[in-house]
Amino acid sequence: MIPKRTFDAVIIGGGGAGLRAALQMAQADLKVAVISKVFPTRSHTVSAQGGITAALGNVSDDDWHWHMYDTVKGSDYLGDQDAIEFMCRNAPTAVYELEHMGLPFSRLDNGKIYQRPFGGQSQNFGGEQAVRTCAAADRTGHALLHTLYQRNIAARTQFFEEFFALDLIRDEEGYVLGVSALEIETGQPWLFEARVTLLATGGGARIFRHSTNAHINSGDGLGMILRAGLPLEDMEFWQFHPTGIPEIGSLITEGVRGEGGYLLNKDNERFMLRYAPNAHDLASRDVVSRAIAQEILAGRGCGPHGDFVYLKIDHIGADKIKSRLPGIRELSMQFAGVDPCEAPIPVTPTAHYMMGGIPTNLHAQVVTPERYGPEEAVPGLYAVGECACVSVHGANRLGGNSLLDLVVFGRAAGNHAIEYLRENTIPRPLPADASDLATGRLARWDKAKGNERVPKLRAEMQRILQEHCGVYRREDLLKEGIEKLGQVEARLQDAVIEDRSKMFNTARLEALELENLLPIARATLVSALARTESRGAHSREDYPKRDDDQWLRHTLYSRENDQLDYKPVRLKPLTVETFQPKERTY
Ligand code: FUM
Repeated sequence: MIPKRTFDAVIIGGGGAGLRAALQMAQADLKVAVISKVFPTRSHTVSAQGGITAALGNVSDDDWHWHMYDTVKGSDYLGDQDAIEFMCRNAPTAVYELEHMGLPFSRLDNGKIYQRPFGGQSQNFGGEQAVRTCAAADRTGHALLHTLYQRNIAARTQFFEEFFALDLIRDEEGYVLGVSALEIETGQPWLFEARVTLLATGGGARIFRHSTNAHINSGDGLGMILRAGLPLEDMEFWQFHPTGIPEIGSLITEGVRGEGGYLLNKDNERFMLRYAPNAHDLASRDVVSRAIAQEILAGRGCGPHGDFVYLKIDHIGADKIKSRLPGIRELSMQFAGVDPCEAPIPVTPTAHYMMGGIPTNLHAQVVTPERYGPEEAVPGLYAVGECACVSVHGANRLGGNSLLDLVVFGRAAGNHAIEYLRENTIPRPLPADASDLATGRLARWDKAKGNERVPKLRAEMQRILQEHCGVYRREDLLKEGIEKLGQVEARLQDAVIEDRSKMFNTARLEALELENLLPIARATLVSALARTESRGAHSREDYPKRDDDQWLRHTLYSRENDQLDYKPVRLKPLTVETFQPKERTY
């Protein structure tokens, strides 16, 4: 008999999005559980560095309309403008809320929250650089996550740490009634019954070989969605952060360039002056990553293999570096062997963020594809944060908008779920087969026989995605990638988990994670092949132009037969005029 616990709401993921939603519901006296595969303050939000963007106007004149304009333009006009308006308009309130919860923001001399410039930010709809990203030194995510965790403890949210969510439980009418999960330490499967289930499982950039993401970022919520027969949106759009430490992948925050750092090629040239005559090193990330890739391809990369560029920051002085970028100094010294107070940091574009994900509406409800009729919510199911696609980031996210997305939509999800729970007071019975999918998956691995090993297959998938679906894509490369991935998927049937005696559950976890990563990798390749244009972070060498006539629409990928559907971009904001698509220059 599988143990079962019952809550009003169960939240999968203990990062910023999950904790913000949990807090909203727990403070309304609901019985809330957070299931997290790591201790919550080790969730990936902890490694967000540079900050959270909101038009507070503490350093430069600012206005949420300008923030909205920059975000729409940054998204290369693929972002849904109603959602972008909602996020940017609510940003200042969201940041002040965090301040009042006790988040230790860095301060200006006048005591106001410290803000730094980030890429793609402008005043007055494309004018001078704006200074909009609120920071706690270069450890903003760490400060945010710890603040939210403490507040949740005070609000009596219940935490199930080191539990790995397996699959959604749905009844015949499509209501989501909770999840199955694996207790990692013991290997015991559990059922968590709840009238509201919220996915906040973060991104899946571990499909790539070089990634700024933690190893835990295996896109678990996305795997659950695909197995439940629901689609994923815009999976072709992955952000390559311009400044990761080569090979290691650790993030070197955009805040370094915000504080005055700049990029150099092997000829000591500030090449961003050529690629972005106005914004220079603070152009949006897709532009800067492509510029670095171009420099490397043209033989102007640095180092013995010419495969990185330098990020110089020593000219701002050791005192500033030590107070504003202490974490970056530590990371550079540890992982690149360089003290940025004295020498430039080697950097290269590195997979960082998934713009696509689980399709949601403004209340963070998961929505079904339009081919099933008018877009409607899956009852009882929400998704927030990087795993969700609302879509505020479109084809390219601006730095600092990710932490903002977590808290704005985490709060909105909490508020909507409170209403939903008021209207749906009577629990629906769990179906008799509630645990079958999960127990079937566990049993398959326990009985597995064969010669393949999970870590090897994962490494091969990561190499395929890196080589066939990186900064630049092309039809032949993508097709070859899909074929190679098919071989890895087939070999998974022959895979066994290693060392059952000692590392049994760790190895089993890796196998279950690969079952989530592989379909995300497939969704990425298939969607990237279908989109025959270049937009934002999706750069097709064979289709170098943006094509608004054909492609002002989102892709929806379903697992069955790799089916693709499409839905139009919501160009109409809530209260303001549409920002009409135009050529995007920085
Ligand atoms: O560069 C950074 O600090 C990353 C921020 C972000 O991805 O929002």
